Amino acid sequence: MSSLPTAPGFPPLRLRRYAGFWLTDRTLKFLGASHARFSPRPTDVLLVSFPKTGTTWLKALAFSAHLPSTGADHPLHRNNPHDLVGFLELAGEDDDGLIYEGIPSPRLLAAHLPYSLLPHGITDGSGGRIVYVCRDPKDTLFSFWHFHEKTTATLQRMADDGGASSAMPTFEEAFELFCKGQSMAGPQWRHALEYWEASRLSPDQVLFLRYEDMLRDPEGSLRKMAVFMGCPFSPEEEETGVVRDIVELCSLGMLKGLEVNRSGRTMLGLKNEAFFRNGTVGDWSSCMTPAMAARLDGIVAEALEGSMLFF
Ligand code: A3P
Repeated sequence: MSSLPTAPGFPPLRLRRYAGFWLTDRTLKFLGASHARFSPRPTDVLLVSFPKTGTTWLKALAFSAHLPSTGADHPLHRNNPHDLVGFLELAGEDDDGLIYEGIPSPRLLAAHLPYSLLPHGITDGSGGRIVYVCRDPKDTLFSFWHFHEKTTATLQRMADDGGASSAMPTFEEAFELFCKGQSMAGPQWRHALEYWEASRLSPDQVLFLRYEDMLRDPEGSLRKMAVFMGCPFSPEEEETGVVRDIVELCSLGMLKGLEVNRSGRTMLGLKNEAFFRNGTVGDWSSCMTPAMAARLDGIVAEALEGSMLFF
């Protein structure tokens, strides 16, 4: 690790460049262990995203798709989605991912890891299915901006970031770092591109979703996800409105209002409330000038040229 190029990132963490991505020390530490010790199962469903692109929502929906009811005993009433579906790369250092061995099949797991850095058993076709969600990079950056204001101190502890700067960046500084790809698991567009290409090569293994489409058609997105995950809704469930009920339970307004998400913290110490804000498209325009937006769009378009992936 010490031989890898380092740079400051946004959120303000020391990042190291590995295999074309900027990663925290903690993620890098887990990588080796996960490749050696994590055993994917064919029934696994892995929810993957770049941070701030809809991870929390995806976790809530996918978790609920596996349950028969959305009643008062539903675990989302008492748990933040991040405590119901854990991240591979945030497994404790002592267990090196082995805590996931205890979860009965079918397991629902999550990751912010790039496709090329997932444990090999997941990507060689024997390790279950992947649901990926992407989001417009401008909204992703803006969402990150608000998130870091509430969580930077905790994020720095989580990332093992001895070299973190305590100074809060301005939005312009954060923008510059993001444009250079220097954010957790960045560049975002390269992260999305790997999953996009995998979904085109292996549509049965990788489902590529867009946050914006999910906002437009949450019920359709949930149905698509459920079919892909191997737990489609039955005609009886459709008739009794299960899809509508899950979408309602997992809506931003509902989750944001729950006591657990207003006052609690995730197992990692992050405030639950930090994961729920506006959930809209185009929010970036309140902080980014048209020139900044055009510049970021240009960087992304250039990187994605020829890929048929557009934001
Ligand atoms: P905004 O900051 O733009 O509002 P992540 O879950 O990957 O950390 O992403 C956080 C973003 O998803 C935030 O976006 C947050 O408000 C939004 N979000 C969280 N829960 C959501 C939900 N249930 N429905 C829609 N958006 C949600």
